[in-house]
Amino acid sequence: MSSLNGKVAVVTGGNSGIGYTTAQKLKHRGAEVIITGRSAEKVQSAAEEIGVRGMVADVRDLSAIDHMADQIKNEFGKIDILFVNAGVFQPVPIGQISEEVFDYQMEINFKGAVFTIEKLLPILNDGASIINLSSVNAYTGMPNTAVYAASKAALNSYTRTASTELAPRGIRINSVNPGPVETPIFGKTGMKEEDLNGLAEEMQNRIPLKRYGQPEDIASLVAFLASDEASFITGSEYNIDGGININPLLS
Ligand SMILES: NC(=O)c1ccc[n+]([C@@H]2O[C@H](COP(=O)([O-])OP(=O)(O)OC[C@H]3O[C@@H](n4cnc5c(N)ncnc54)[C@H](OP(=O)(O)O)[C@@H]3O)[C@@H](O)[C@H]2O)c1
Repeated sequence: MSSLNGKVAVVTGGNSGIGYTTAQKLKHRGAEVIITGRSAEKVQSAAEEIGVRGMVADVRDLSAIDHMADQIKNEFGKIDILFVNAGVFQPVPIGQISEEVFDYQMEINFKGAVFTIEKLLPILNDGASIINLSSVNAYTGMPNTAVYAASKAALNSYTRTASTELAPRGIRINSVNPGPVETPIFGKTGMKEEDLNGLAEEMQNRIPLKRYGQPEDIASLVAFLASDEASFITGSEYNIDGGININPLLS
């Protein structure tokens, strides 16, 4: 297990779920960690719990990202690890997709990711590692996820292009595609509890390893990609999904 001593790591959406656990892991491996999020209250309490620096920046607000970049530059100088994790999930069937639902997911999951990288690029060290948190939904065709899935597919396409453009600076960029992971994201969809439970059972049955992922599973992969052990890996995507992307025709 490679040490992250001396590295500065930024985790967007670090007050909850996968981001929270990854911030803990990166800190445990020796990195100085900054978590960001859109709610001052949530960011502050998570930062205190984990023992890291918290900064508020809604990724839909480009001036807020500029401000965050200035804060990081002033307090930490440079960044070595950027985990672009902030995201939202709003399942809606085709035929009921409103402009609001479209814009919300695209603005946070894709535009927010692109401009987080754009604005932090000047303070990324040469040789830095960027990890984009995508989803197997980019490939699975799961009902009601057309916009969410497209936002993640766009992110994966961006990752591939960015890997060639950033390579001259030795900056590596990869995508992580989780299957279902037990986090608060599902409770934020506005779905009724019984529908959420039904969805959870159905998804779990379709996962060959017969369990949801845990934030810890994803954090371990992110910590590896962030480390020097992954120094020859860029422009790649990693499914981490208990095998759901295999999607067997017969079970
Ligand atoms: N859980 C899964 O099954 C799963 C599977 C595949 C991919 N993913 C992806 O994993 C990432 C993390 O999700 P999670 O499951 O850990 O969910 P989560 O617990 O809801 O965490 C998402 C984080 O992103 C933050 N966020 C949302 N909108 C933001 C914005 N506009 N600006 C800044 N921060 C914002 C959230 O803040 P609030 O607390 O204020 O909402 C929260 O801190 C997302 O990109 C998601 O799409 C999740």
